[in-house]
Formats: sequence, structure tokens, C-alpha cells
Amino acid sequence: MSKRIYVLVVLSAFGLLSVIVLNLVFLADDKPTLSPEEFFNVAHRGASGLAPELTRPAFELAIERGADYIELDLQTTKDGALVLMHDETVDRTTDGTGKVSDLTLDQIKELDAGSWFNEKFPDKADPDFEGLEVLTLNEAIEEFADDIRLYIEIKAPIAEPGLEEKLLATLEVHGLIGEDVPRGTVLIQSFYSEALYNIYVRNQRVALFQLVSDVNPSGSDYRLENISEYAVGVGVNYHDINEEFVDKALEKGLLVHPYTANDPDVMEQLIEWGATGVITDYPGRLSEVTEEMGLD
Ligand code: G3P
Ligand code: CA
Repeated sequence: MSKRIYVLVVLSAFGLLSVIVLNLVFLADDKPTLSPEEFFNVAHRGASGLAPELTRPAFELAIERGADYIELDLQTTKDGALVLMHDETVDRTTDGTGKVSDLTLDQIKELDAGSWFNEKFPDKADPDFEGLEVLTLNEAIEEFADDIRLYIEIKAPIAEPGLEEKLLATLEVHGLIGEDVPRGTVLIQSFYSEALYNIYVRNQRVALFQLVSDVNPSGSDYRLENISEYAVGVGVNYHDINEEFVDKALEKGLLVHPYTANDPDVMEQLIEWGATGVITDYPGRLSEVTEEMGLD
């Protein structure tokens, strides 16, 4: 081999190696680890303090403001589509009325999911919010899952048999769960332990969060122990907890994500107590807090 060819081969090999190493570093940085050392900024229904909840602008703002996850509430339409809606009815967040489960997807798509926000919050109103549509889970995944992770809440499994299977199938089709997909690419939470259990028995790789409304602030050992058998973490109203609770949950190996903290002082306190994520309507405020605290 001539000296020139030898130099070219060495340089090419070095270039290839650099690309591989850089890719590994970049991808590793981008992967959720679900370690208590990693802190998550979760945008509650998107950046719902700034734009109509669960709509495209709320998700775009969450990405812009540095959220790690967007939190989504799921309901099922009369014809079985999974749509993003917090309430059982469309009354509060659209110009329509009635239960989601009594309306077809076509009927729900006709509704305006943004004008209510302009009327309720004139100081934050934006003409672009008028006429926003209710999104399906499929649309949210297709449009946003490349840029931000999803934190999905199952709202009413008892009223919607089969929702868990449908959800898992949807996530699988989009490559968001599976053997080669890092755990935590999607998180699923619910107040209903049956719903989480239904997921757990079908796919133990899916990372689950148990929402609890009945916590003893000091932390019930038995309840936390039980949750740690199927879930990676607990979601709790921040008003209901104290440092002792966070300590106990962490001791049981659970991540702790209090909701819904919008005041920077509260966010700071929760982080000081050891919360491994905070759920907020204002992900930009949380990004500022985590930056000031040197968490980024
Ligand atoms: O993330 C927890 C939180 O979303 C639960 O409450 O009523 O806002 O769905 P809610
Ligand atoms: Ca929710």
C-alpha cells in the first residue's frame, strides 16, 4: 500500500470512528434513563398556561420552552378513536356540548378547541387559537413524538373497555414501545391501578406512573411498596406531600412527579426535596428554575 493510500485509509477510518462516537454521545444524551438522577420537565396538557390545553400551539410552546415530556389526557369517541381531551365532556374546552363517548370523531373534529381560551384568558388571547381542532392520539404522535416524549394519562378505563390494548397497539405501530425502544420514551400514568395493571400484564417494558390521590403525606410504606411492584414512579398533587414522602418513595425505588406546580418557589422546593420531575402548565418557568439550580 502506497503511503498516500495508507494516509487516506487512516483518515477515513478516523472520520468514520468520530461519526460513530459523536452519534453515540448524541443519542445517549437524548435517551431517557429513568434514573432518579435525571430530572424531567413535564408540560401539563402541553404549555397549557400559555395556550389552549392539548392543542398544537400548547405542544409547540412546550417544546420551545424546554419540556422533556408533554402530558396528554385520553378519551375515546363513540366510534372508538383515541382523542386528547381532559374532561369526559367537550363542554369546557370546545364550543360544543356532550360526552366525548357520545360523539363521533367527525363530530368532534368540527368543534373549536381554542376560542374558549381567548374568552377565559383575554390577556393571553391569540387569534391563532380560534378554530383549533381536537387532536387524535395518532396525530399528536405523528406531529410531535420526534421532538418531545409523551406522558399519557388514561382517564376512564372502566367506562372504556379495551382502551389499554388500543393504546399499546397505537404506541407499537408508531415504534414508541418495543424491545429496542428505550424505556421512558413514553410514560403512562393513571389514577386507576386496574388500567396500569392491564398494561403491566401485557407489556412489562412500558414505564408506568401511579397517580395517587389518597397519600398520607408522610408516605404509607405499604402503598408505596405495592406501587413499586408494577410502576416506576408516583404522581401526586404537590399540596399533599412533604419531604418525608419524597424520601420514602425514592427509598422504594420510585420516581416522584408532583403536579401541577406553576410557582417557581414551589418548583424549587419540590426539587430540593428530591422530586425527579415536576408537572407544570409553565414549562418555561420550570426550565428557568432548573437552570438556576444547575440541573440542566
Ligand atoms: O399529571 C397528573 C395530572 O395530569 C392529573 O390531574 O386532572 O390534570 O389530569 P389532571
Ligand atoms: Ca392529566
